[in-house]
Amino acid sequence: MKIKTAVFPVAGFGTRMLPATKAIPKEMITLIDKPLIQYAVEEAIDSGIERIIFITGRTKKALEDHFDINVELNNTLLESGNLEMLEEIKKISEMVNLVYVRQKRMLGLGDAILCVKDIVNDDPFVVILPDDIILSDVPVVSQLMTQFEEYGFPIVSTMKVKEEDTSKYGIVKFKECINDRLSLLDSLVEKPKTNSPSTNAIIGRYVITSSVMKALEEINVGCNNELQLTDALNLVAARESVYGYEFEGKRFDCGTRSGLLEATINFAYKRSDLKEDLVKIIKELPNN
Ligand code: UTP
Repeated sequence: MKIKTAVFPVAGFGTRMLPATKAIPKEMITLIDKPLIQYAVEEAIDSGIERIIFITGRTKKALEDHFDINVELNNTLLESGNLEMLEEIKKISEMVNLVYVRQKRMLGLGDAILCVKDIVNDDPFVVILPDDIILSDVPVVSQLMTQFEEYGFPIVSTMKVKEEDTSKYGIVKFKECINDRLSLLDSLVEKPKTNSPSTNAIIGRYVITSSVMKALEEINVGCNNELQLTDALNLVAARESVYGYEFEGKRFDCGTRSGLLEATINFAYKRSDLKEDLVKIIKELPNN
């Protein structure tokens, strides 16, 4: 079955990026000249997604405004003859079919995803956490959709992390290798404090099916007293099948200071209009 919907849970407080996130959503922090959310939306569109559902909260107005039409700005750009920027700004508001849902209380990623239950019905969809920004030749969402079309079960994207970092991630345990990058999972655990089953961590791209939605309704709150998507996937792995897909690309955790800095440098280095400046700036840094 072809996936047409992407769900973006963006209701979280973004406490790790305070004070930047006091008055603006974490997803509106800029990576060079675009907010994080726009990179993630472009990844979805480039993967063939036709509808995006944002799960938002009280402080997310700037995010809604970013994808809305700004008539005054358009007129100003038109009058000043800045037609190139006008086209770029218009494109943002015409990008894709957008739906907004409110998560009333921050009860975790699993609870956020349950908010779309009546909108997606029983159809599969992808989940994108926009603070995970990924540089890749093929968009990661598209990589996951290709695997889903063949295997038809929920998929989490994974990457190897350092042993000492496993307590920051959802971690998977493999059962059986299916191909170069895809494995059937034995189990999944959210932020293991000790005895992590592996160093393969879940990152913010998933394929979710109706069996995961059902499992989300059955589980109790877990780690951090939140309803955890990882726990629902673990239940589905025990009953049916869940796959782990080691994506192709480099991921940056833009929900942290050092991750955002690393992404900024890497993305600037890839841009022909900025590469030379970046190299010059770094060369001229004082030694101490
Ligand atoms: P995070 O764990 O990164 O939480 O959530 P956060 O609030 O965004 O950031 P910190 O940890 O306080 O700095 C992972 C994703 O799940 C969403 C977040 O918006 C983020 O995209 N989320 C989390 C919700 O939509 N609702 C929740 O109740 C919790």
